[in-house]
Amino acid sequence: MARIGLVWSSLIGALSLCLVAVTTLPAVAQQQPSSVNPMAQSVKEQELLKELQRIQGRSSLPDARTRVLEQPGRDWRHFHQVTLRWIGAIVILGMLAVLMLFYLIRGMVRIEGGRSGRTLVRFNAFERFVHWMTATCFIVLALTGLNVTFGKELLTPLIGPEAFAAWAQWAKYAHNYLSFPFSIGVVLMFLLWIAWNFPTGTDMRWLKEGGGIVGNGHPPARRFNAGQKMIYWVVVLGGGAAAITGYLLMFPFYATDVAGMQTAQMVHGIVGMLFIAIMLAHIYIGTIGMQGAFEGMGKGEVDVNWARQHHSLWLENETRKGRVSGGTVAPAE
Ligand code: HEM
Repeated sequence: MARIGLVWSSLIGALSLCLVAVTTLPAVAQQQPSSVNPMAQSVKEQELLKELQRIQGRSSLPDARTRVLEQPGRDWRHFHQVTLRWIGAIVILGMLAVLMLFYLIRGMVRIEGGRSGRTLVRFNAFERFVHWMTATCFIVLALTGLNVTFGKELLTPLIGPEAFAAWAQWAKYAHNYLSFPFSIGVVLMFLLWIAWNFPTGTDMRWLKEGGGIVGNGHPPARRFNAGQKMIYWVVVLGGGAAAITGYLLMFPFYATDVAGMQTAQMVHGIVGMLFIAIMLAHIYIGTIGMQGAFEGMGKGEVDVNWARQHHSLWLENETRKGRVSGGTVAPAE
């Protein structure tokens, strides 16, 4: 009996040894450096594409546009990941640097002789509503658009991948949905202010004299000067281009094929970056760059002395129509 017990215990011991060996073997094998190259039989992607030009096969997907296995897109990817980032960084940081330098050299353009205390209406309530609705949408669209180009690299190291993914998803929703009020705002601005935005001879003189911002002259201007007319057309044409290309991207393949989508994305990206850079200059002039300018879009009225300095022909016209509060106004220069 004692011998049989010994045989059994030896057998069980041997079996458990084998079991331990079998379960630990793959792990040990993985740790050993292998002389076998697991890629030896495979063809490099580059060679494959060179050899075949295109990979063909059959697909049972009913929609022909979704049957593309690999999009033609290396140039586009390079644009998206490298070129657009350079364009964006150069124009936006470049504009910020220029504005900072300009502010340090020129400072705020002040109302000469101070405020007169008499005011006149510059923008009515509806114009101001349209402006601020469009501007608010634009700022959110700009930040969420920049997030698509720069967000992953800039924010992931700071807030981590989960938080970035959650933010990026909401940012994309905001970007998509705010495009609608923004587009409506651009159309309304176009209609509201088109009458004052055709170029005239006065604009040439205004430009030659540096607009009274570069230098200290006060070239005459009507309701909008040449600089503002440029901003107006940037908003109308840039906003239009951004909206059209944006909707091509938001509703993929309805109006164009994959090459058209890539072109739309490239145009959307470049227009967006330039648009943001130019609007930074607009925001600068409307806030810290010029004393008295914000009031026109803030409460709707501007000081007569501000109007005389920057929009003398407009002031003359408004005075003739009796639209200046608080008494008569000396003729504009
Ligand atoms: C914080 C942002 C902004 C500020 C502080 C601001 C300020 C102003 C001010 C003060 C004016 C009136 C200028 C005057 O009386 O002569 C103005 C006009 C105008 N704004 Fe803005 N704005 C901002 C953003 C935007 C944005 C994002 C857009 C378009 C996307 C825009 C489009 C316009 C247009 C088309 C005009 C009329 C033309 C002109 O004066 O340049 N603004 N803005």
